[in-house]
Amino acid sequence: MKKILFLLMACMSLSTWAQRADYRIIPQPKSVTTDTTQVFSLQPSMGIAYDAGNPEIARNVQFLRQWIEEFTGVKLALTPDDKKAAVRFSIGFPADKKAKKGKQAPTLTAQQEEAYAITIDKNGILIQARQPIGFFRAAQTLRKSLPLSAQGSAFNAIDFPFTKIQDEPRFEYRGAMLDCARHFFPLETLKQYVDALALHGCNQLHWHLTEDQGWRFEVKALPELAKKGSIRNQTVIGRNSGVYDGQPYGGYYTQEQCRELVNYAAERYINIIPEIDLPGHMMSALHVFPNLGCKGGPYPVWEQWGVSREVLCAGNPETMTFLKTVVGELCDVFPSKYIHIGGDECPKERWKTCPKCQAKIQELGLKEDGKHSLEDQLQTYINHEMEAFLRERGRDMIGWDEVLEGGLTEGGIVMSWRGIKGGIEAAKQHHRVIMTPTTFCYIDYYQLKDQWNQPLGIGGYLPASKVYSFEPLVPEDLNEEEQKYILGPQVNLWCEYVGSPQHVFYMMLPRLDAISEVQWCRSDQKDFEDFKTRLPHMLRIYDRIGLKYCPKVE
Ligand code: ACM
Ligand code: ZN
Repeated sequence: MKKILFLLMACMSLSTWAQRADYRIIPQPKSVTTDTTQVFSLQPSMGIAYDAGNPEIARNVQFLRQWIEEFTGVKLALTPDDKKAAVRFSIGFPADKKAKKGKQAPTLTAQQEEAYAITIDKNGILIQARQPIGFFRAAQTLRKSLPLSAQGSAFNAIDFPFTKIQDEPRFEYRGAMLDCARHFFPLETLKQYVDALALHGCNQLHWHLTEDQGWRFEVKALPELAKKGSIRNQTVIGRNSGVYDGQPYGGYYTQEQCRELVNYAAERYINIIPEIDLPGHMMSALHVFPNLGCKGGPYPVWEQWGVSREVLCAGNPETMTFLKTVVGELCDVFPSKYIHIGGDECPKERWKTCPKCQAKIQELGLKEDGKHSLEDQLQTYINHEMEAFLRERGRDMIGWDEVLEGGLTEGGIVMSWRGIKGGIEAAKQHHRVIMTPTTFCYIDYYQLKDQWNQPLGIGGYLPASKVYSFEPLVPEDLNEEEQKYILGPQVNLWCEYVGSPQHVFYMMLPRLDAISEVQWCRSDQKDFEDFKTRLPHMLRIYDRIGLKYCPKVE
């Protein structure tokens, strides 16, 4: 008897009884109808349907199985027989099949392709989706709904209240930018970043790879570029204090590492958009190739922050050869439909007095138009060359909103960062737009009023509530037709003052939660007070998966 009691107590210390799932997650699904009086009890002996013949679906099944075990200790068996499984997957919605009968299949939006439904009743958990990506989104929803067992212990069962969840994202483009040029982060951090984006239903990682302060992308035809251009001799302390740390700093990503990240991200339905920022923000390249600057150098890899007046010489034909070599290899490594060519903050001071740049203005026959200076038009010439180069390779060019200034050709996409004005103007001209205004989306700004007890930042104040309040379609300025050109919103994390992976996640979380609800939910579905009640469970998840976050929201 004593023995049995002891065994029972030992078992109980290793496992706890059933705990409930809770579907109040972030981002909030479009529709959740729950009957809390009835539950389906998922137990370790049960199966999850697994068809090894479909590797993409099988991968998503494995993700869900792994996440359930990680959060609850409940390990499900892979079951080839669908009828015996407690967790089942079905491709296609019955309503689509009905609608299709005798008719041509309607064309679906990108968002509709991502749609999923979860039905939980006495028969178990059924996940339906049009495409395997929908299974991934559903798996993330279930993951976030799970109760968390104490680390190392397991629940005996998970009680899922009966429910019907239907969901699809509001915007087709749901991005986050990370600046790995001011500071370099290891590939492992990039993978964690991808995981964090996937947890929040984002689908685009905009990877800022080159800057005045460091070149991070290996170019095989120009091996010196990353080798030398990735290292600055020292870094200014604080906000351009004039005092330097005396420590060389650097690092770059090999093409093999970039490919590894592209594949890792693709398995999590995240596209990586690489950015080579041109023709400004190029001190690191000028350090290696001083002949590409108007003055001929020498140029250091920049050791301070800000906007350098030293930029690529637009009149030197070697500049275009250089850019096409770099962007050509970029296209070889990154399959993304979108390629970012920067275009922001390019001072024209050097071009105004450079004989080569002035000769190019003459050669191109550029004329004063009362709106744009000749030098602004010279930058437009570079943009158009790059856009044509990318179009030949089947890619679409993205540029910061400065690219709008001299006129954008048809396929170009504008990233509106200096407020929403550029985005509105671009949409009115029927250019596609990504909305990422400083006022709502620059998560390098402080998130709490009490800046003094925060790590040093660039300045500004952007609390999670402000991010949450963003309405990317700006209905007061754009009509329904024009709104169609807004692809979606993105947050940007510039890293002048962010030097460690912990700091990256501290800046991101929970503002990524806030933007994810902007990306997924209609404005009439959003409620910041309700959001705050759903946040604590997300924070527990971050603790569980080892992500740092800001514990307070304002
Ligand atoms: C930017 O923030 N310079 C695009
Ligand atoms: Zn020049």
